[in-house]
Amino acid sequence: MTPLLVVGVLGLIAVPVLWWLLVTTEGVYLGRRVVVGLYDLYAARYDKIKGFDPRNELLYLGLAVLGALRGVKAPLVLDVATGTGRLPLVLLNEPFFNGRVWGLDLARRMLVHAARKTRGHGDRVRWLWQRAEYLPFEDGSFDLVTCLEALEFFEDQRAVLAEIVRVLRPGGILLATRRLGRDAKLMPGKALREDALRGLLEALGFEAVEFKPWQMDYDYVWARKPGGSITGRGNTLPLPELLRCVRCSAAALVEEEKRLRCTACGAQYPIEGDIINLHGAANHGKGEIVNHE
Ligand SMILES: C[S@@+](CC[C@H](N)C(=O)[O-])C[C@H]1O[C@@H](n2cnc3c(N)ncnc32)[C@H](O)[C@@H]1O
Repeated sequence: MTPLLVVGVLGLIAVPVLWWLLVTTEGVYLGRRVVVGLYDLYAARYDKIKGFDPRNELLYLGLAVLGALRGVKAPLVLDVATGTGRLPLVLLNEPFFNGRVWGLDLARRMLVHAARKTRGHGDRVRWLWQRAEYLPFEDGSFDLVTCLEALEFFEDQRAVLAEIVRVLRPGGILLATRRLGRDAKLMPGKALREDALRGLLEALGFEAVEFKPWQMDYDYVWARKPGGSITGRGNTLPLPELLRCVRCSAAALVEEEKRLRCTACGAQYPIEGDIINLHGAANHGKGEIVNHE
C-alpha cells in the first residue's frame, strides 16, 4: 500500500468518527469540558439553530409547566442546564406565572445570552454558573425542576437526578426529556431507553414516572417526589439563604456588593452581570475550593 493510500484510508475512517464524536454526539464521549466548550462556542447561534418560536414555546412548553404548577402560590422553579434560558423566558413572559425561576448551566456564554434576554425581570430570575452534578441549594427548596434536552449530555446522569430529587420539595415535580430517534441510537449509554430511565428515576425515589410525546426527537418525562407539602421551603427565602456554599456546603452566604460571601468558610463568589459565578470562582485561583468533585 502506498503512503498516499494509507493516508486516504485513515482519513476515510477518521472523518466520520470525528463527526460522530463532535457533531452527532456533541462531545459527550469526550467529557464535560468538551461538551461545555462546544456549547460556549455555539452560544451566540444556539437559538437560531434551534429555531425557537415564542408561540410554540408557550403552547408546547409553557402551558405544560404552568399546568403542573397549578395551585402553587408564587412557585419557585429551577431549570437545570438552562442553556440560553429557554424555560425561564417562557415562564417570565407568561402573566399567569407569578413565581421566581433559577437557571443553572456550566456553559457561561450560554448564560450570558440567557441573562441578556431576561433583563427587566429583576430578581424574579437568577442565573448560576455551576455544574448540574452539584446543585448548591438547600434540600426541599423547589416546587418544580426542569431539565430539558440535557440528560444525555451529563457525564453522570444519576448524580444529577439524585441532586434534583434532593432539592425538590415533597410533592415537587420533575420535568425532564428523553432523546428519541436516530441520534438517540447513536448515543449508546447516554440517551437512555424508557425502561432504563424509569428504573433510574424510581431507584432514586421518584414516583408517578410518565413518558409523554413532546417533539420529534424528545419525549417529556414527568415524575414526582413522594410526599406533599404545599410549597417549597425556598419560596419565601431571599437569595443568599436559599444557596449553599460550594466549598463548605454551609447555608451561610451573605450578599455584598457584586458578590456572595460565605460567613462559614470565607469563600467568595462574584456576581458578574446577572450571573452568579460559582464554578469559575471554584476553579480559578482558589485551589482550596473543592466544588464537590
Ligand atoms: C441542548 S442544551 C439544552 C439547553 C436548554 N435546556 C434548552 O432546552 O434549550 C444542553 C445544555 O446542557 C448544558 N450542560 C451540559 N453538561 C452540563 C453540566 N454537567 N452541568 C450543567 N450544564 C451542562 C450545556 O452547557 C447546554 O447549555
